[in-house]
Amino acid sequence: MPRTIRWGILGPGRISRKFASDLKLVENAELIAVGSRSLESASAFAEEFPVRFLHDSYEALAQNPEVDVIYISTPHNLHYENTLLCLSHQKAVLCEKPFAMNSRQVKEMTTVAKQKGIFLMEALWTKFMPHYERVIEMVREGQVGRLRSMLVNFGFAPTPPIPARLFDPALGGGTILDIGIYNVFITLSVLGMPDIIEASMTPAETGVDEQCAVLFRYNSGAMAQLFSSFSSNLSTEADINGDKGRIRLTTRFYEPSTNIEFYPGRVESRQLIPVHKEAGFGYQYEARHVVDCLQRGLFESPVLSHKDSMELIQVLDKIREIAGIRYKSDE
Ligand SMILES: NC(=O)c1ccc[n+]([C@@H]2O[C@H](COP(=O)([O-])OP(=O)(O)OC[C@H]3O[C@@H](n4cnc5c(N)ncnc54)[C@H](OP(=O)(O)O)[C@@H]3O)[C@@H](O)[C@H]2O)c1
Repeated sequence: MPRTIRWGILGPGRISRKFASDLKLVENAELIAVGSRSLESASAFAEEFPVRFLHDSYEALAQNPEVDVIYISTPHNLHYENTLLCLSHQKAVLCEKPFAMNSRQVKEMTTVAKQKGIFLMEALWTKFMPHYERVIEMVREGQVGRLRSMLVNFGFAPTPPIPARLFDPALGGGTILDIGIYNVFITLSVLGMPDIIEASMTPAETGVDEQCAVLFRYNSGAMAQLFSSFSSNLSTEADINGDKGRIRLTTRFYEPSTNIEFYPGRVESRQLIPVHKEAGFGYQYEARHVVDCLQRGLFESPVLSHKDSMELIQVLDKIREIAGIRYKSDE
C-alpha cells in the first residue's frame, strides 16, 4: 500500500482554497493542517476544509511532526522566508509561483533543500497539465516545423475588491511576477532560453509594472512577443508558430483545456485536437506529482527541476532589470 502523504497549507487565501479542493481528487493525499498569521483566518479556512490541526503561526505549522509537505500560498515577497522556515523543520515544500523574488533567493532555497535532502518544487501548475504536455509533444514531433515565433499574452483588469498583493511593491506586486511569469514559462518550454531580451513597462501608481512588454530573440531567428497587463482584459492566448504549422491555445492558455487548436495551413485548416481534462480546477496534477515524488523518496522533481525554476527566475530578473522593475529584495 503506498503511504498517504499528509499536507499542510501555509497562508490560507484564495488560491489555497482551490488547491485544497483539488487535493481531494488526489489519491494517497490528505490535508491535515493549516497555518495562518491568525487563528481567525485558519478557522475560516477549516470551516470550508476541515483539518485536524489549526495553527496560528507559520512556525507552528512547520513544526507539526504529523505534516509531510507544506503548500506555500503567501504573497510573493514571503516565498523565500516561508520556504526556508519549512525546510529548517525538515518539511517538503511545494511553493507557489514565483518561486521567490529573484534568482539569489531561489539559489539559496534550492541549495538548502539539496544540502538537507528535502523535496522542494515550484508550484507551476501548468507544467503538469495534459494539454501542455501534448503541446510540447507536438512541437517535439515537428508538427509545426521549424519554430519561428511565439505570441503570448495574459491580462485582466482587476475589479474591486482588488487584492493588495497585485499592486503593492512590498508584496512583490506587478504583472511580470504574477502573470507575465506564465508567458515566460511557456516560451522557455518551447523555444528555450533567449539569446537577447528586450523589455519595457508602464508603471502603476505604486511603481510596480501595470503592463509589461517583452521581446525574446533567438540566434535561430525565432522571436517571441510577450505581453502582460493589469489594466485590460486580454485574450490570454498563446500562439506557437513554425514554418509548417501553428498551435494555438485559446482563452487562458495556462489553465487546463479540453482541446488544442492546430493549423497545418492557413486559418481555414483548423483542427481541434481533443485533450482529456479532469474535473476540478487543475491543481490536482501538480499535487499528484508531488505525492508521487515523495513516495519515491525524491528530493527534486524530474519534471520541474530546480534548474528549470532557476532559468525561469533568471529570465524574470533580466526582464525586470531591462524594464526597470525593482523591489526591496533586490537591494
Ligand atoms: N497557481 C495559480 O494558479 C495561482 C493563482 C493565484 C495566485 N497564485 C499565487 O499564490 C500566491 C497567493 O495568492 P492568493 O491570490 O491566494 O493571495 P491571497 O488570497 O492574498 O492569500 C495570501 C495569503 O497569504 C497570507 N499572508 C501573509 N502575509 C500577508 C500579507 N502581508 N498580505 C496578505 N496576505 C498575507 C494570508 O493568509 P493568513 O493571513 O491566513 O496567514 C493570505 O490569505 C501568490 O504567490 C500568487 O502568485 C497562484
